[in-house]
Amino acid sequence: MASPPRVLLGHTLLLISLLPLLACAGLVLEDGYTVSTVSDLNPTGTHPYALLPRPRAGDLVLLDSAGSTLYTLPLPVSADAGLRRLAGGAGAFGHGHPRSIAVDGADNVYVADRANGSIRKVAPSGYTTTIAGGYSAGTGHRDEPAQNATFSPDFELTYIPKICALLVADRGNRLIRQIKLKPEDCAHENQKGKFRWVFYLC
Ligand SMILES: *[C@@H]1O[C@H](CO)[C@@H](O)[C@H](O)[C@H]1NC(C)=O
Ligand SMILES: *[C@@H]1O[C@H](CO)[C@@H](O)[C@H](O)[C@H]1NC(C)=O
Repeated sequence: MASPPRVLLGHTLLLISLLPLLACAGLVLEDGYTVSTVSDLNPTGTHPYALLPRPRAGDLVLLDSAGSTLYTLPLPVSADAGLRRLAGGAGAFGHGHPRSIAVDGADNVYVADRANGSIRKVAPSGYTTTIAGGYSAGTGHRDEPAQNATFSPDFELTYIPKICALLVADRGNRLIRQIKLKPEDCAHENQKGKFRWVFYLC
């Protein structure tokens, strides 16, 4: 007597567990989000190519690829944006039109300067150094001392706090490359605004 309802229950549970899969079959519209323009950069002549948060300063870094320039801007983003030039322009990464940046736990910005086969590090002060590709010219796939390394002409950077490293998606070589950072590059700030130094075992 109890068996038909149990079968029914079984079918219902099966159907419920399959619902996510069924939903994947079509495009599902999820409501509840809004889009608003918080800043119009047209009057500034700036081309926002990429935006990333800076964990310590609590603001944003903006990459203008066309102008080969990095800017910072405060949060929340206001109408006038409050752009401040951090590095670039006629500076260290020339006119390489970088298209990929990463920000570490200490607010250093890493720039994939693909035109020069180099990776630049821009400190919060704007002081810029070359951490990879400084000696090598051209493209290729060479590891070991970062200054002698070469990359394909198309690579992208990501900062991975868990391993205190930059990972390089080296598209042209179809490789994932890794550059270990220094412990101080990975020290980040906690929510309350006090500095909490985290040293990963590198
Ligand atoms: C990087 O490459 C660009 C474009 O080829 C060049 O204008 C610039 O001088 C180079 N910068 C450095 C630091 O080598
Ligand atoms: C790296 O490049 C420099 C400058 O060209 C050279 O003196 C050095 O021997 C190179 N090191 C390695 C390990 O290839």
